[in-house]
Order: sequence, then structure tokens, then C-alpha cells
Amino acid sequence: MKTRKKSIIGLVILTAVLFFSSCENEPPTDLTLTPFIPLPVSIEATGGEFEITVKTVVYATEGLEVTAQILASQIAEKTGIMPEVEISATAPRKGIYISGSGENGEGYELKIGKKLVTITGSPAGCFFGVQTLLQAINTEDEEGEKDFEIATGIIKDKPYYEYRGAMLDVARHFFNVEEVKQFIDFLAMYKMNVLHLHLSDDQGWRIEIKSWPNLTTYGGSLEVGGGPGGFYTQEQFKELVQYAADRQITIIPEIDMPGHTNAALASYAELNCNGKATELYTGTRVGFSTLCTDKDVTYQFIDDVVREISVLIPGKYFHMGGDESHSTPLEDYIPFVEKVQKIIKSHGKEVIGWDEIANSAIVEGTVVQFWADEANTTMGIAKGAKVIMSPAKKAYLDMKYNADTELGLRWAGLIEVDTGYDWDPETLSDSISRENILGIEAALWSETVTNIDEVEYMVFPRLPGYAEIGWTAPDKRNWDEYKTRLATYGKVFEAMGIDYYKSPLVPWEE
Ligand code: ACM
Repeated sequence: MKTRKKSIIGLVILTAVLFFSSCENEPPTDLTLTPFIPLPVSIEATGGEFEITVKTVVYATEGLEVTAQILASQIAEKTGIMPEVEISATAPRKGIYISGSGENGEGYELKIGKKLVTITGSPAGCFFGVQTLLQAINTEDEEGEKDFEIATGIIKDKPYYEYRGAMLDVARHFFNVEEVKQFIDFLAMYKMNVLHLHLSDDQGWRIEIKSWPNLTTYGGSLEVGGGPGGFYTQEQFKELVQYAADRQITIIPEIDMPGHTNAALASYAELNCNGKATELYTGTRVGFSTLCTDKDVTYQFIDDVVREISVLIPGKYFHMGGDESHSTPLEDYIPFVEKVQKIIKSHGKEVIGWDEIANSAIVEGTVVQFWADEANTTMGIAKGAKVIMSPAKKAYLDMKYNADTELGLRWAGLIEVDTGYDWDPETLSDSISRENILGIEAALWSETVTNIDEVEYMVFPRLPGYAEIGWTAPDKRNWDEYKTRLATYGKVFEAMGIDYYKSPLVPWEE
């Protein structure tokens, strides 16, 4: 497995990355040529350059220290120069200044002058502006001279959708805290703002619930293939929530129910209708398990789980799963979903569920996550739900790229890099339009994905494309242009030690 250290060393020795070959060994004086992903709303070039040197200081207004520290350490990863960080209520004459505007929203303005770079916005906007600035640093090493220029200009930017997420299935295979942090770093690079963690399934329960301890000590002990599983203690989960929040990412926990529950059913006999615990399961079938929907203890269990997890998360959403409950009769499924929505609401959270939940009454604020069934999703919209777009045929990161891809599945089709990028959530279905859509989420299920190297291979280079669908307006997105920007990132991925799929559709720069 790769270590973070490797990526730091890789980046420090990285030469030549983000600029078109015509610019080789020349200062990057035209900001509009920088291949940003996601593409910003507007870029105006002013023809000069700002240089990062050993004297560069990162200043920030109060409250933005963490963002400033992250910028400083990312600059160090890219250049080997670690800027100092200082708090300043007023703009300095030179350096980099992260200036909280006191506004809400996720937009920002990035002004790159010859002496002073200023990023202005809300805390979220400033963090996203930092990501844009990082992509603008030319790490070209001219004959051993370590000078790191940024073309001057002004970028004004804001996201198209408010919800820009990715899901990681930590239930089929377990990913430890460091691996999840690495995944969070990938999302942060592209201004994504949601990490949906699929925390329970037939093969494993991955978060400590103090009132039901067997869930993790027994139900979390294995994973697909029979290897040792694992789980997050509540302290570790809080650490992940904070790590994500520092990067403007909200963690949405998913406890999948009433199906996909074998790990719980194996841990507690009373959750089964026949009162007998099931065996632990390490295969990859779906649809065979169900909580007993007419027992009171089931709802006590759900209430305890939702209560214990809800206090760990500042975010407003709790995901109740609800997919592929093939062993739950519809007449039991419908009232179950209604009851669970009320339980989640009673703990101060809004509900997200996979599109099947639209078969039930929809409580105000509930969001339907479209993955497979347009009719379900349309029904959810008619009942007042907003939609997260995760169409499996386009946005499932566990689908193979092509017929030869070793990892992954293909039940929803092959998803080459162009297929993953070249679609529009607003026009995919006649019955789902802009006003219904909260945003987009790409999902990485882990039946075949066992470690972070394999995660990297399935995620890169598709993830930046999903981030751009979430951030950049559809009329500014175009595969033929996008692929030339993406092509410049192969060297970035290599320098970071990221295993990626070198798609033949992308003209990778050598
Ligand atoms: C799903 O892919 N079962 C939501």
C-alpha cells in the first residue's frame, strides 16, 4: 500500500505538470491556459506572474487558520517550500491572503497579482479557492532552479450544484481511517463536498454502536472473501468527520435497511423474525436479508443506532439505504420506510434513501437517490422529494472501464472515462429536471475493490469528471475540450503515486 510520504516525495521531485508543452521552460503568463478541473466560471488573465519563494507567507483572517495550514502544506508537497502561516485581519502588501468575506455560499474570488494573491469568500469558498490556486502553481523545475510561478489574473467561481459527492462502500471491504482520509483528500482536490460512507451491509457492520456492541465485535469481524473486516470506533469516526469538515466535506453515514442487513442479523438473534441469528456472510449476493419489520425491537434498534450516530455528525443528512430489499414484502417495506424516516427526523436529521424508498410516503425534506429506477425517482419527485443523481450506468465507480478491466463489475455497463463525463443530470431523464436535482454523487461499491491502490485505479481518472459535472455549468462542459485538460493530470497522478487507468481516449501528456 502506498504511503502519504511517497506522494510527498513524488510531488517534490515532480517536474513539469500543468502547462501545455508550448509553455515548457517559460513562465506561465496566461492564466486562461491553466487546465483547471473543475472549470471555473470565469478566468481573466493579466499577463504577469506571481512567484512562490522561501519568503512567501500565507496570511489568513481569523477562523481560516486550518485552510491556511492546508494550503501551506500542499504548497510544500508541490514545491518543497513550506510557507509560514500568520493570522491577519488586514491585507498584507505581498504573499498569499485568505480573506473570509463573512458570506455564506461556496463561491470565491481568486485574485493573483504579481506580489499578492487574495482568495475571498466564505470558509467553504476560500477552501475551494485554495484548490484552484494549487492547480495554478507551475511546478516546472527549470534546470534545477526551484522557482514556482503562477500566472496572474482573476478567477470568479461558484458551483452549479450544492451537492457534489462520492460514496465509499466500507462494508463489503473495510477501509481504515488512513485510507478514508486519503479518499477525502481526493474529493477535496476537486471541490467535492460530500463523502457518503456506506457503513453497513450483509458482509459487515463498520461503526461502533455502544448500545449494541456485537454489531462491530462480531458483525464487523469479516469482509467479502472472508478476510478480517474492521470498524471505526466512535472516536475514530469523529476524527474522520473533523478531517472531512476541515476540507469542507460533510460525511453522510448510511445504515442500509431493511435489506442488506445480514451483519446485524448475525449479531443479534432478536432482529430476525424467527429469533435465530444468521451466519456471517462473505459472498457478494444481494437481496436475501431483511430486518423483521413487525417487531418492536427492530425500531428500538434503529432508534439507538440513529441516535448514537447522529450526535457524531454535524451534517443534516442520515442515509437509510432502502435498496434491493427483495426479501421484504412491499406491504411491509412501505410502512417500515415511513417509520424509519420519522425516527431519523426525531434525531434532528433529514433522510436520504435509494430510489426504492419513493414507494413509501415521503416525509418533508427526504431526498431520493436515483441509482436505477426512473419510475421510483419520478414518484419521489411527485411526492416532493429532491433527487441526488447517481445513475449506475454513468456514475458507478465500481463499473469496469472496458471488458479487460480486472477489477470491478459490469452489471450496469462499462464506464469508460468519456461515458462517465459526457452526460448531463438535467437531461438524462425527461422526468428529472434542474429544479428537482440537489446534485450528483459517484458511488464506489467495494465487492471487488480491496485496498486503496485498487480504489485509486477505479476512481482515477473518472472522479475529476464527476466533480466537474457537479461544479461546472453544463453549457461549459465538453468532452473534447475536457479530455485535453485531463490529459495534463497523468503526470500529477504519477507524481502523487496514484494508480490510475490510462484510458486510450485521453491524449495523456508525456
Ligand atoms: C445500489 O446500488 N444497490 C444502490
